[in-house]
Amino acid sequence: MNENSASFAALDGRDPANLRGDPITGDRYYSKEFAQKEWDGLWSRIWHVAGRTAEIPEPGDFLVHTFMKESVICIRQDDGSIRAFYNSCRHRGMRMVAESSSLEAITCPYHGWKWGKDGVLQFAQDGHDFPQGDPCGKLSLKELRCDTWGGFVWYTMDPKAEPLLDYLDPMPQLYKNYPMDTAVRVAWYRIALNANWKFVTDNFSESYHTRTAHPQVPPWIDQDVDTARHEMWPRGHGRTVQPMRPSLSDRLPEGVPHPFEAILQQWDIDPSSYASYEDMAMQGWLDLKAAKRRLWQERGYVHYKDMDDEQITDSPHTVIFPNVTISFLPDNLIFFRSEPHPEDPEKCFFDLWCMAFPVEGQETCQSIMAGEKPLREVETCEHRDFDGGRGIPELAGQIVYQDMELAEGMQAGMHSKGYEDAYLPAQETRVRFFHEVLNDWLEGRR
Ligand code: FES
Repeated sequence: MNENSASFAALDGRDPANLRGDPITGDRYYSKEFAQKEWDGLWSRIWHVAGRTAEIPEPGDFLVHTFMKESVICIRQDDGSIRAFYNSCRHRGMRMVAESSSLEAITCPYHGWKWGKDGVLQFAQDGHDFPQGDPCGKLSLKELRCDTWGGFVWYTMDPKAEPLLDYLDPMPQLYKNYPMDTAVRVAWYRIALNANWKFVTDNFSESYHTRTAHPQVPPWIDQDVDTARHEMWPRGHGRTVQPMRPSLSDRLPEGVPHPFEAILQQWDIDPSSYASYEDMAMQGWLDLKAAKRRLWQERGYVHYKDMDDEQITDSPHTVIFPNVTISFLPDNLIFFRSEPHPEDPEKCFFDLWCMAFPVEGQETCQSIMAGEKPLREVETCEHRDFDGGRGIPELAGQIVYQDMELAEGMQAGMHSKGYEDAYLPAQETRVRFFHEVLNDWLEGRR
């Protein structure tokens, strides 16, 4: 156990004794009543990610986050702070803006009321005609709490929600060594999926599916269950930390080039110097840590500066309850999120933001979810329909694409009379834990 997990008292995410045993029933994935309970007890109370701080560097730059039937504007102020307002005109309720943009003031398209960056009404036609008195300077957009962490802008609709850093605990401490706000978003997708949003959190709460669904992974991220750390925390967050080295039980056939050899060579380590496959995997992984520690500065890997030996060679795949997952890889930061469809609990939107830490002198990066990409911020989000994979052909064969291919089958299975509850191995403890924390929110225990 490394210092991070010891310091922040993780529960054992592989120990079912940490569970009550709440069943994971199929109706949770298709019932409209259950989805309404989620809105009432969860979505209207948690902290949401509106976007990246890098999207709104200048005063007047704003994000629009539309979540189910609600919409929120997060706008950069003159003093550099960010404030959040409901995207609803105080005159008659019009939704004012559809997309993130930059404006000195937001003008409602219906009757032309103009709202300043600070949310205060600056102009209303025929101000003298209001029996209540001219509303300009008096009326404001309704404000929400807004904060930042990790280069992300967060807001909550609940005035009584705990502070963001408490809500995220212990993530800010665990990941303080990563310069998260420097990560560049090199691929940005929002993909419509025919599955309930919880499929995504379930999927990212276990690695049990990897050997079957992602056979390309074990040669470079160790999938042996006993070499991973499975951790979870009382607020529902959790992670699986796996060494980024070959699994000893997943050998590639003789003669097939091994991806770990290329990784070693990249850091001046000769793979042929190892006496055996096991030696290359285990000693090579230790040598890789030492080489990165020795060479990071001259190679321009400036993001390694404060990262520890685990962080420069391992994969902590981290779920932030309830719907955000971040893979904190040595050179990539991958943000995954699922959000429910506003009407249909059997659909969701899956967000994929592939981010890479800039390396001095490099103009491209290897994004492990989207392939090689120019190392620069993409300007716009690609809105796609998964459509059996036809909607995102450029991601075919990628890990995340393989996950999405499973979504509809899982959704269909939830309707079967043959399914009553999940039957889980210890390493999937976090899947049930997620549902139990969700139940706590829905039943007023949080
Ligand atoms: Fe916005 Fe009338 S609804 S100005």
